[in-house]
Amino acid sequence: MQRLPIILDSHFVYNADPTLAAPALIERPEWTALQGHFEAVHARSLRELFQADGERERHFSLEAAGLYFDFSKHRIDRSTLPQLIALARACGLAEHIEAMFTGAKINTSEKRAALHTALRAPRTSQIFLDGVDVVPGVHEVLDQMGRFALEVRSGAWLGHTGRRIRNVVNIGIGGSDLGPAMAYEALRPYSLPELRVRFVANVDASDFAESTRDLDAAETLFIVASKTFTTLETMTNAHRARAWVRTQLGPDAQVARHFVAVSTNHEAVSAFGIDTANMFGFWDWVGGRFSMDSAIGLSTMVAIGPAGFAELLGGFRQMDEHFRHTPFEANAPVIMALLGIWYNNFFRAQTAAVLPYSQYLRHFPAYLQQLTMESNGKHVTHAGKKVDYQTGPIYWGQQGTNGQHSFYELLHQGTRLVPVDFIGFCRNPDATPADQDLLIANLFAQGAALAFGKTEAEVLTAGSDRALAPHRAYEGNRPSTTILAETLSPATLGSLVALYEHLVFTQGVIWDINSFDQWGVELGKVLAQGVVAELANPSPTGAGHDVSTAALIARYRTLRGP
Ligand code: F6P
Repeated sequence: MQRLPIILDSHFVYNADPTLAAPALIERPEWTALQGHFEAVHARSLRELFQADGERERHFSLEAAGLYFDFSKHRIDRSTLPQLIALARACGLAEHIEAMFTGAKINTSEKRAALHTALRAPRTSQIFLDGVDVVPGVHEVLDQMGRFALEVRSGAWLGHTGRRIRNVVNIGIGGSDLGPAMAYEALRPYSLPELRVRFVANVDASDFAESTRDLDAAETLFIVASKTFTTLETMTNAHRARAWVRTQLGPDAQVARHFVAVSTNHEAVSAFGIDTANMFGFWDWVGGRFSMDSAIGLSTMVAIGPAGFAELLGGFRQMDEHFRHTPFEANAPVIMALLGIWYNNFFRAQTAAVLPYSQYLRHFPAYLQQLTMESNGKHVTHAGKKVDYQTGPIYWGQQGTNGQHSFYELLHQGTRLVPVDFIGFCRNPDATPADQDLLIANLFAQGAALAFGKTEAEVLTAGSDRALAPHRAYEGNRPSTTILAETLSPATLGSLVALYEHLVFTQGVIWDINSFDQWGVELGKVLAQGVVAELANPSPTGAGHDVSTAALIARYRTLRGP
């Protein structure tokens, strides 16, 4: 029987002993079988595949957690998914899923659990980590967030001068910004219209300046969101905010009335001058990019209210349950993850596009970039061995239909294969049915055009000039998933985010990489400290810097002036 490098209890520690390590991915018989299958399938066009199987739409679609998935426009036949699923089984996906949900320390390089699923666990459930049930703590923080959100929303929370709060500014970066910023934008129709919510992330002073230029400090509350409370960008902006409040309200202003914190770092929050009664905690088992449903989502809860936030968590939970309990053959995150591997590792696609046909989801691609690329942009296995296959693809995208008038030309006519996820909604509170028909017609049309294209013969029949026919023809055969939901509600958003969280995890299991650490961001941070010291040094030496960096520092100093 095959030995898996994972143990189903919360004391799991990855065993790097090579005799216990799983076989290398590309040496698995399931991988070799897929390689053979790819040779047979990749030459078949989507036109052919649709002609050969009149029931593709029925066979390759499913519903989960309020979302409908159409996988039929993929370059697969009926035997492809079973073979991909066999690979997932061989990699121990079922055991890894259970390990994640039960608090095993699957983030092996940081020796931590990745228990973001506990953030949406029902109050009545129990999840043990190192012998302690984490669920009561989760709900304690949710209750604390709820009380605070209601105070701000009702006007009971007053600023230093006694005025109610009308502006909430979230200061954070990476996972402490992208998720909340995306969710606020996505759920605007559910947000309190009298409350303005803004997000400051960039250490570039212009971000803070532009976000606060038209605000009155007496009516502004800052949420300083940082898991570590040491992140340079966030702490710089938090200090800017404190100075801005004092400039407007006087040096003795009660700063505590204008600042709350979301963090795991009690001491640093207190040292900053924030009353720890107004600190909302979370835990080291929540990764930054998996944290938008933790206290990091405080701005979301203030905007949409505790009931709306509970609906959001409900959507996450539905997808969690689907992922944990549904056979792989009908499991949406598993199928999406496996299709991603099919294109990434067999078709050698370099990127994946996410194209939401909703203005409200305009920040969704940016949010997904951190979730997918910080998680699966890895080059060594759990055991520290360099991989000999591609890991995470580059994710990118933009809301439809804007992208159609920008980069879709490359999707249709370029030389690269770019698998696409289309996301659409049947109803939109801002739109008449006819408005929404127009938007969604574009989504459906793009999926069909990408898949089936238009041959030169068809172009000629339609009256094209012979010389222009090659230019006007569409090769087609470009794959896409279509995800359709009734409306973009808090619950739908939760399902959608959990879908991608589990997709990322599934792919990480198959590639045998740690989807939960992020050592790659450290080197730049450390080097920046040396550079900033050199920029401030009255007598710079250039020592310790390579010649290119030293020359850039020198030129910058000259142009910057004293
Ligand atoms: O630099 C990367 C990172 O560590 C992300 O993983 C994280 O989301 C972000 O920085 C912000 O970290 P923090 O919440 O600790 O300020």
